[in-house]
Amino acid sequence: MRTISWDSETPAVRLIDQRLLPEKLEIISLRTVDEVAAAIRQMAIRGAPAIGAAAAYGYALAGQLSLATTVEALLDDLESAAVTLRASRPTAVNLAWALDRLQGVAQAARKHGPEAVRERLIEEAQRLADEDVEINQRMGCNGAALINDGDTLIHHCNTGALATVDYGTALGVIRTAHEQGKRVHVLVDETRPRLQGARLTAWELETYGIPYEIITDNAAGHFLRSGQIAAVLVGADRVAANGDVANKIGTYMLALAAGDNDVPFYCVAPTSTIDLNLPSGKQIPIEERDPSEVLELTRRGKPIAPSSSKARNPAFDITPHHLVTAIVTEVGVLYPPYTETLTRAVHEAQRK
Ligand code: MRU
Repeated sequence: MRTISWDSETPAVRLIDQRLLPEKLEIISLRTVDEVAAAIRQMAIRGAPAIGAAAAYGYALAGQLSLATTVEALLDDLESAAVTLRASRPTAVNLAWALDRLQGVAQAARKHGPEAVRERLIEEAQRLADEDVEINQRMGCNGAALINDGDTLIHHCNTGALATVDYGTALGVIRTAHEQGKRVHVLVDETRPRLQGARLTAWELETYGIPYEIITDNAAGHFLRSGQIAAVLVGADRVAANGDVANKIGTYMLALAAGDNDVPFYCVAPTSTIDLNLPSGKQIPIEERDPSEVLELTRRGKPIAPSSSKARNPAFDITPHHLVTAIVTEVGVLYPPYTETLTRAVHEAQRK
């Protein structure tokens, strides 16, 4: 089952509501662009490649819902949908990347009239989703070469099938290693405050039959120092041209502890997550989410913090490139100097 798919009958965007996992596996049907944007914002769907696909399907949906009879009017409706979708979450570049790609297709098809534009957008959104699965499988093979039989790995957030259209990025590498018969054990960072590790990664690993244990985020340093960890694997929401990585909050501290203990720190990300327009991580916008996500942790149904407490809730952080051992992409495993290897990888992917 894919995390997200297109329902041509209704028409609608269908996706697994990740807010309900692991208790309940429920598919929701989104029939308007506002509903798609709200699902992204509220994290019913999350993970950089998955929200890229959601934006693409949302844009194609806007084409279906528009009553425009001229191509100019249709492009106006599509533009306002793109503005709404683009504003839903700021850090993962896949969202803007997917919209740019679909807007390019709409422009290229405009001479054939509104119906052709509408059809081409659905085809392109489907193609983008199919490609995501293939790319993840290729990354899985490229990255699995870095994993040895018997390895214990630390994984942060959720980068599996749920964070993508299917299969996953960093978790996809772990899956491939497992499918190749390598015995791997995963220490799953619970990933405060939204608990993507404890709720989603654990649920996926359970499904794939991969042995794991959940650890609190602040236990990772202890395990990295113990000499038992072969590698840390994370995904990315945006990689700047110099190799700085924006990923789920806590990634930077994990990279520091890995570096201090000579444990390889691997980032697994498709080339659609690489943003060559930004020279470094300093320019990457960091989403700050509602403090309630931090404060509403309860003990016996009561909030753990005093009711007047304030909180800060940055959803991502930046790991500087010197702490990143390698970046696994669909075109290969990249090593420093990233300014050169990332540019080459993006151009190679564009040629394919
Ligand atoms: O806030 P989220 O859950 O959308 O954050 C997701 C992450 O940080 C993932 O590590 C990243 O998107 C890569 S997932 C393939």
